[in-house]
Amino acid sequence: MLVLLILFTVIQFIQPARNSSVLLLAADITKAVSVPDSVLLILKIACYDCHSNNTRYPLYTYLQPMGWMMASHISNGKANLNFSEFGTYSKRKQANKLRSIVTSIQEGSMPLSSYTMMHKDARLNTQDKKKLTDWALAAKDSIE
Ligand code: HEC
Repeated sequence: MLVLLILFTVIQFIQPARNSSVLLLAADITKAVSVPDSVLLILKIACYDCHSNNTRYPLYTYLQPMGWMMASHISNGKANLNFSEFGTYSKRKQANKLRSIVTSIQEGSMPLSSYTMMHKDARLNTQDKKKLTDWALAAKDSIE
């Protein structure tokens, strides 16, 4: 028990780097395709923590190992899809990503359930899902 307590205390000092940049890059998705405010709001609440250059960190992520888990989701999530750098993708890749946004929402694989467990506001209701998928399909058609 004491060993665990010491270990827990020690790991608190190993804080992962924070993913936060307030810069709006020229490559931001809003510059590449049209994103209505109502859609952007859902994306920001439900997806941007892992798929953009700016994560909102709730207090619990300052506690390890939760912060490390979050950092790993972020680097993994950004490597697959980064809304802040969407414009750097080829048109073909952009269309593919928009298509997989539709699939991931229809399958319910995004946002990750381990995340919505802690972030109730990121849970998508039927209306949010429809709004996102309708938008992603229209955005995909606009670049193809
Ligand atoms: C807690 C972090 C997290 C959140 C929040 C999140 N994602 Fe993800 N997402 C990931 C990770 C990690 C991956 C990498 C693949 C995997 O682990 O499933 C991923 C993969 C994806 C992919 C696959 C990309 C590809 O290469 O085809 C899509 C699309 C996606 N996410 C869309 C979304 C959308 C849309 C939202 C919001 C509704 C969202 N994600 C919210 C972490 C997250």
